[in-house]
Amino acid sequence: MAFRTIVEPFRIHSVAPLRMTTEEQRREAVAAAGYNLFGLHSDDVLIDLLTDSGTGAMSRDQWAAIQHGDESYAGSPSFEIFRSAVQALFPFVHVIPTHQGRAAEKILFTALGGAGLSIPSNTHFDTTRANIEYTGAEAVDLVIAEGRDPASRHPFKGNMDTARLDAFLTQNAGRVPVVMLTLTNNSGGGQPVSLENIRETSAVCHRHGVPLFLDACRFAENAWFIREREPGQGEREVSDIVRDMARLADGMTMSAKKDPMGNIGGWLALNDDALAEQCRALLILTEGFPTYGGLAGRDLEALAQGLKEVVDHDYLRYRIRSTAYLGEALAKAGIPVLQPIGGHAVYLDAKAFLPHIPPLQYPGQALAVALYEAGGVRGCEIGTVMFGRHPDGSETPATMELVRLAIPRRTYTQSHIDYVIEVCGEVARRAPTLSGYRISHEPKQLRHFTARFEPLA
Ligand code: F0G
Repeated sequence: MAFRTIVEPFRIHSVAPLRMTTEEQRREAVAAAGYNLFGLHSDDVLIDLLTDSGTGAMSRDQWAAIQHGDESYAGSPSFEIFRSAVQALFPFVHVIPTHQGRAAEKILFTALGGAGLSIPSNTHFDTTRANIEYTGAEAVDLVIAEGRDPASRHPFKGNMDTARLDAFLTQNAGRVPVVMLTLTNNSGGGQPVSLENIRETSAVCHRHGVPLFLDACRFAENAWFIREREPGQGEREVSDIVRDMARLADGMTMSAKKDPMGNIGGWLALNDDALAEQCRALLILTEGFPTYGGLAGRDLEALAQGLKEVVDHDYLRYRIRSTAYLGEALAKAGIPVLQPIGGHAVYLDAKAFLPHIPPLQYPGQALAVALYEAGGVRGCEIGTVMFGRHPDGSETPATMELVRLAIPRRTYTQSHIDYVIEVCGEVARRAPTLSGYRISHEPKQLRHFTARFEPLA
């Protein structure tokens, strides 16, 4: 007998309180925050789906590992344990710890970027794009066409368009220092990249003499999708699939705040000795000595343990199934969601949800604010607010207007998620009455974090 209830493969060991608020209190709080959900006090949020980054619950064994942390400035055994755990999955020669993913990006692109250069990816995440553009280089997204269509049910919508990549590398010979591949494709809906596509991307890059780096934050979720969806992969261990993914690349950047189950952490790993030396020199300038990077020894221990837990099949089955549970319930209620449901998040299609709000009045922002006001659920706009402003100052609509409901790992129960489903239903009823926003203040880079908005009448 196969039971339908998703049983979380853990029981609760320690709890944190949630504070209840009224809709009136939330309306005041979000107005005071300039209608930017990043500006809220998290005490005023009931279910926080802003991000799955650093917000997960650590396991008993991770908290125990924290006690083993050795805080030596140089040569800490905690570093050896961390490096072994990383190399067990990603057998790169050099492993360079950083305080989070963007620090690894900053170091890599400081070494490789610069004016006149181009760095393609399937889709760059916001910090990756910003770090590339900060060096004067251009960040180019070459995801397959299905990856830009919220309704397409392609099983690997994160795939790189390898024909376009090949043509791009031919046209820009000598101007591409590295190609990135984001696993899973976060900005494109948490969609996986197939092993076959990683293999083809790797072959194209290497034919052109260009290294391939993985932005591998959600590698385990990506590998689980490969196991479930790719012909011939269904019987394999996830850790073996991960090693296959890694062997096709020349290096990786990592945010350990995602699949490695950390509250903080990241790394840069690579095979090239000369580049590693350059990166370590930059690391010492901004992060710390190479055996701790930006981290405490105790964090390195917690991440080493997290890396063992995240490739567990029972965990991954629950993880992917519970995200799909939210997405499928919303779709069944007629709420437009990006298909297929991603690994770490459900993406509401704000363009379809609020068709009366034009892109430059930020339908995703309007939807995210409405979810917060109605039920204290905090999601994140991934649309024109995040991607619409360009380095030359121009503003254009983003390819998709999404609101991401990201699920922190091992944090919320099915009843929390059932509540989120109810709140989305309520906002769907209010949809025709919602209006757009204008931006009253924005910074030069990464405006979505600190911009202030005003509702349009
Ligand atoms: N790459 C991807 C694909 C990411 O999703 C993130 C972070 C980073 C790099 C940067 O890592 O935060 O450790 O510096 N994404 C978070 C999110 C913030 O909400 O999706 P970081």
